[in-house]
Amino acid sequence: MHPEKSAKKQGVETARVLSGIQPTGRFHWGNYFGAIRQCIDLQTAGEAFYFIADLHALTTLHEPARLRSLVHDAAVDLVALGLDPERATLFVQSDVPEVTELAWLLMTVTPMGLLERCHAYKDKKVKGLTADAGLFTYPVLMSADILAYDATVVPVGEDQVQHIEVCRDLAGAFNHLYGPVFTLPKPRLVEGSARVPGTDGQKMSKSYNNTLDIFADPATQKKKIGRITTDSRPVEEPKNPEEDHLYQLYSLVATPADRQAMADLYRRGGFGYGEVKKAILEAATNFFAAAHSRRGEIEGDAGRIEGILAAGALRARAKAQEVLARAKLACGLTRVKMPGRPV
Ligand code: ADP
Ligand code: TRP
Repeated sequence: MHPEKSAKKQGVETARVLSGIQPTGRFHWGNYFGAIRQCIDLQTAGEAFYFIADLHALTTLHEPARLRSLVHDAAVDLVALGLDPERATLFVQSDVPEVTELAWLLMTVTPMGLLERCHAYKDKKVKGLTADAGLFTYPVLMSADILAYDATVVPVGEDQVQHIEVCRDLAGAFNHLYGPVFTLPKPRLVEGSARVPGTDGQKMSKSYNNTLDIFADPATQKKKIGRITTDSRPVEEPKNPEEDHLYQLYSLVATPADRQAMADLYRRGGFGYGEVKKAILEAATNFFAAAHSRRGEIEGDAGRIEGILAAGALRARAKAQEVLARAKLACGLTRVKMPGRPV
């Protein structure tokens, strides 16, 4: 029987949203419009688990004090952006050790070739950089993150889709060997912002130094927006807004009416890119104003944030323990089912 169908039949499947975000730097517009915003929208749609992926961050970040403060900042930022800890379970990945145990179980059904094809590792190798086993096996840990909570929907940006396919493959392989243990998840992308451009027109990413950060101070934001690359076409020439990353960035933060007006202006021509940059700064300031002020209210209250994360870890662990027990029993690590053995 198809593993997905058999899992459903066993009642394993419940609608559950899950996503993780690495605390490797401050959040940028790509993170927000690609992943965080849909997480926040989905927290009312069913059960939701969101975590700060500090174990994944260790594959690139080796500064303990910085990691600690980035984890804290990530929690503050998410709450400021609208993640409601009453509705969604917010926690830190390493507070749920069951996930690393589950990752080992999955490792035993992971073909090397599958990981060799994953882009995080492949890109590093192509660049001649050395990769460690942590980076190589990164998608297995990510699979454990997802499977440990019986997640059905994983809101992410486009770059993570391959990892979710790996997760489905591993869950399928495990289910095929041992029966319907895991629920197969699906990625969820937002049309139009699954790949937010950076200030240089490439994909916005911390690693390309082309980000617009959500909580940047106004002077830095102005400078970065000022540096967005533009072409050298004359001011009067009509332009296609859809092909311009400046317009794409504007359209993320502008109101629908302003977006339409800007698109019309592009098609008419007769404007300078400086004007568009000014409009981006203004629209972004308005768009994130409420989050900035909420952040101001909560950032000093470390106890409150720690309390949210501790409560989240408790809830998340309870679920992960249940799934891990199911997996251990299925693959023969739990002896209760062994005939003739005392329990
Ligand atoms: P970065 O590439 O800056 O290191 P992460 O890999 O930490 O970002 O991504 C965290 C989440 O944000 C993921 O779900 C990812 O798909 C999403 N994301 C990151 N950059 C973008 C982007 N430019 N457009 C859309 N989504 C993005
Ligand atoms: N790999 C994701 C990223 O770099 C972060 C992540 C870790 C994640 N575990 C996850 C995302 C599970 C979704 C589900 O952005």
